Amino acid sequence: MFMPDDLSAPRLEAGLKVTGAARYAADLRVEGLLHAALVAATIPSGRVLGVDATRARRLPGFIDIMTHENAPRVARPGFLIPLQDPRVHFAGQPVALVVAGTPHQAALAAAAVEVCYEEWAAVTSIGQSHGTAFAPATAGLVATDSRRGDPERAIAEAEQVLVRRYTTAANNHHPIEPHSVMACWDQGRLTVRTTTQAVFAHRNAIAACFGLPVERVRVVCEYLGGGFGTKGGAWFSGLTLGIMAARHAGRPVKLELTRAQMFTMVGRRQETIQQVKLAATRQGRLTAIRQDTVAQTSTYADYADPTGTLARLLYACPNVATSHRLVRVNAPQPNPMRAPGEGPGSFALESALDELAEALGIDPVELRCRNFADHDQHAGLPWSSNGLLACYRAGADAFGWARRPRACASLRAGRHLLGWGMASACYPVYRMASEADVRIHRDASILVRCGTQDMGTGTITVLGQLAAAALGVRLTSVRVEIGDTLLPEGPYSGGSHATASFAPAVEEAALSLRQHLIGLAVADPLSPLYGLAANEVAIADGYVKSIAGNRSEPLAELAARLAPDGLVASARAAPDPKPRHSSYGFGAVFAEVRVDPELGEVRVARLTAAYAAGRILNPLLARSQFVGGLVGGIGMALHEATLMDERLGRILDDSLSGYLIPTHADMPCFDIHLLEEVDPHLASGVKGIGMLGTVGTAAAIANAVFHATGRRLRDLPMRPEHLLGPAAP
Ligand code: MOS
Repeated sequence: MFMPDDLSAPRLEAGLKVTGAARYAADLRVEGLLHAALVAATIPSGRVLGVDATRARRLPGFIDIMTHENAPRVARPGFLIPLQDPRVHFAGQPVALVVAGTPHQAALAAAAVEVCYEEWAAVTSIGQSHGTAFAPATAGLVATDSRRGDPERAIAEAEQVLVRRYTTAANNHHPIEPHSVMACWDQGRLTVRTTTQAVFAHRNAIAACFGLPVERVRVVCEYLGGGFGTKGGAWFSGLTLGIMAARHAGRPVKLELTRAQMFTMVGRRQETIQQVKLAATRQGRLTAIRQDTVAQTSTYADYADPTGTLARLLYACPNVATSHRLVRVNAPQPNPMRAPGEGPGSFALESALDELAEALGIDPVELRCRNFADHDQHAGLPWSSNGLLACYRAGADAFGWARRPRACASLRAGRHLLGWGMASACYPVYRMASEADVRIHRDASILVRCGTQDMGTGTITVLGQLAAAALGVRLTSVRVEIGDTLLPEGPYSGGSHATASFAPAVEEAALSLRQHLIGLAVADPLSPLYGLAANEVAIADGYVKSIAGNRSEPLAELAARLAPDGLVASARAAPDPKPRHSSYGFGAVFAEVRVDPELGEVRVARLTAAYAAGRILNPLLARSQFVGGLVGGIGMALHEATLMDERLGRILDDSLSGYLIPTHADMPCFDIHLLEEVDPHLASGVKGIGMLGTVGTAAAIANAVFHATGRRLRDLPMRPEHLLGPAAP
């Protein structure tokens, strides 16, 4: 039993999940359901000449095959909807879809489909498309290029200059729950149960794509087993295939992706090559920063992570330029993946800062403190709040940074080398419009409704907590409904948007319901509160009571008498279109690594991180989310790489045994400090924390590897062969 003042409530749905009672999208069934399986292109570039389903048609359970010749015609600019034309853009692109009675029958029939291609020359790596880099329209949500001052001149005149090249590998998201969609058409109405980070955005996109009014499309997603960005826009193409198949077959159809298809069908973190130039005075004051990124995109759409954002604003510097360029590769389309931009960008920037600290003989924390930006020089705005200096202090103290010897390879534990490294973390505060409503029933139980979704991070719980706190009731009496477009329109779960967006809406709805209830109480002659002024009455612990403390009534009695049919309050909260402050969450990550000098194996022994990220609504869940973010950083640093066979243009090792991810055995000891931060300029004081844990983490680990070994690794992931091979200059 958790009281509403117990901030650290565990997830409300945890029991349902651990007992298997929570029904994920792929668990759902409907009458007459058919199952789809995809046939994927085996060539990276070309066109389909013919699809032969003769063998497939003879197999048990075969019902239907859809190819570019007979698929329903749909369109959405900027997205590749498969089966609309014979073009093949990358290996793994769906070229046909088979529908059968069971998932197994569908998979067997799909495997029996024979496709004939005309194969064209393919570009299978960034290197091969050298010289064809182009500027995308935007990098994430920000401008592609930036420039202030005169970085070239400052570099030419600087006392200390550092020019380095860093690379990051293509990564795939791999939530535990693979993507699925179950589509049911019923008399021109469409119900889609799917794995989505954005029920409303997907509803709107589906309606536009299929030419339906939005009222005729319902998208439902009750639970998610992780997302990390892959269940946002990137899933649209696959989602659409399921809907098209249901329309074509005239029956409900379910499509579930295999793990292998999650390497090709649902986005990826793009591969980057980043050049960083730093110029500084001997005292370590930055006089210029350049960060120029070249990254991979597909042959049919543009996507650029905002890799250079932190170079623009994290440190005080008069001369800064950043750029983002793309090259087209016959490979899957990239999309946002956990801390998109700031994650890989901070690896380069924060590694370079560590190299500068080394070159100048200045402590890495001290170097960063000397370059603290007291306002956002890129936007020309004051920070709404910036706890970065406090994060350095808290993190360094907890980690024991003061005891760090300056020299590399000077800490040992038995036969292992130990190293200590650190980096800054920073991620923007994003917010979008959100609606929510809060209802009280006659028994004083509360229902919160918001059409957002919970990736597993605690959205359901936090929605309940916000309403419980505002209404003065126990969390156990609150029920939360999310994940359905029949609910009030909620935010998408991505870019750390969700909580910062719905918190002000649900708080406003709950407070307005509270005011309404108090108003009813003081106006009702049967209530002990009758005749008091509204501001003399509070609701707490399930009671309406006078603040003086001498009169009270159980909320349930009041509700039963005055709102027998229940009472609801709705609210909509939208961000200020022209904010007068720049809002970011900040942090500092400290890593201890243990390196086996003979095997080149790197283990992260400790990660200490301090974050100043606005109001923390639930410390237990926030800590857990930061652990998740840090683990994502460990994966980027040491494990994850989606490799392409450059000859065939196909993904190598498209399974979780080939694609390395951090496992329990790779977990360090986490020491996470959530600093108290009151930001009066943010609605509900919330900054969002989903992405922040991944920012800086890979750099802190790389910097620790340098400290342990004297070897500077500038390419992610850092694998044993890199430490054992010849040293980079
Ligand atoms: Mo995210 S990477 O915006 O889910």
